[in-house]
Amino acid sequence: MESNTGLNTELKSLGYIGVRSPKLDDWSHLATKLLGMQQVDDSKATRAFRMDDRKQRYIITDDGADGIGFMGWEVDNPGDLNALARRLEAAGIAVLQGSRALAEQRRVTDLIVFTDPAGNRLEAFWKPEIADTPFVPGRPISGFNTGPLGMGHVVMNVANVDLLLPFYRDLLGFRISDYSLQPYKLYFFHINGRHHSFAMVETGKQTLHHFMVELGSLDDVGQGYDLAQLQDNGIAYSLGRHTNDYMTSFYMRTPSEFFIEYGWGGRVIDPNTWQPHETFDGPSFWGHERFNLPPDQRSQMRQLRLDAAARGIRAPVNCAWFEAVTGRG
Ligand SMILES: [Fe+2]
Repeated sequence: MESNTGLNTELKSLGYIGVRSPKLDDWSHLATKLLGMQQVDDSKATRAFRMDDRKQRYIITDDGADGIGFMGWEVDNPGDLNALARRLEAAGIAVLQGSRALAEQRRVTDLIVFTDPAGNRLEAFWKPEIADTPFVPGRPISGFNTGPLGMGHVVMNVANVDLLLPFYRDLLGFRISDYSLQPYKLYFFHINGRHHSFAMVETGKQTLHHFMVELGSLDDVGQGYDLAQLQDNGIAYSLGRHTNDYMTSFYMRTPSEFFIEYGWGGRVIDPNTWQPHETFDGPSFWGHERFNLPPDQRSQMRQLRLDAAARGIRAPVNCAWFEAVTGRG
């Protein structure tokens, strides 16, 4: 049985994500025309995108590499940033104070930079800059569900979960939401009401598997699904619904190796009462057919959800209107 050690972390939410890719134009197209983000920066080597009132949430940099560049985690104030830095240093983690120039680039007041034991670059920051113009989506969507729940979630492929657990759980203070050990180790973590802001899956690789953004409306997702299907080989996982965070989503291919999960209706948990637990239902109630996998693994994943369906596994829809009208969650 896993336990959550300590209920305190300075980290409040996932603030921003940076990706390294030479395919700036392809990324601009996907981010605006499919995801519905707003492009705000179009310099020679970077593209930055808004998802809400903040000046930027998603940043692509062409620096010759390909993959995740950084994850930005938000704290409330300079005292918390300091406390986090001291705690990391006391555990032997090298912490760099972000320069003025870097803080300006990230559109935040101040930040620190450090790496996890797998070499992923993490940043922690406080007080992001707020834009003085309203968010204008790149296609007509209702908007992204961010706010206190953060930008979404990040799922990393890792070589060894056990090497990273002490760092994320015990040092950073991420709380385990749930985990499964079959067919591979998969750990989900929360730092606010979003069921998971971070997860790692032990595939043996060390890359970004996907990140998720959550939309305000199921129709935003469905209309995005239509658009993604018009792209050649655009869908990685078909529309489906996850068993642990209840997200209805599909996974699209991107100009990089990783996927983006485009979702709606994720559950909001109470971190004060949540108990971490092992799960046995597989990742999806239905759907999420994994076109990216070789046939044997694909059918293994399909069998998991057919088994869940055969046992009648289902969950309420996260909808205030439905709950008010029916009295059922
Ligand atoms: Fe996800």
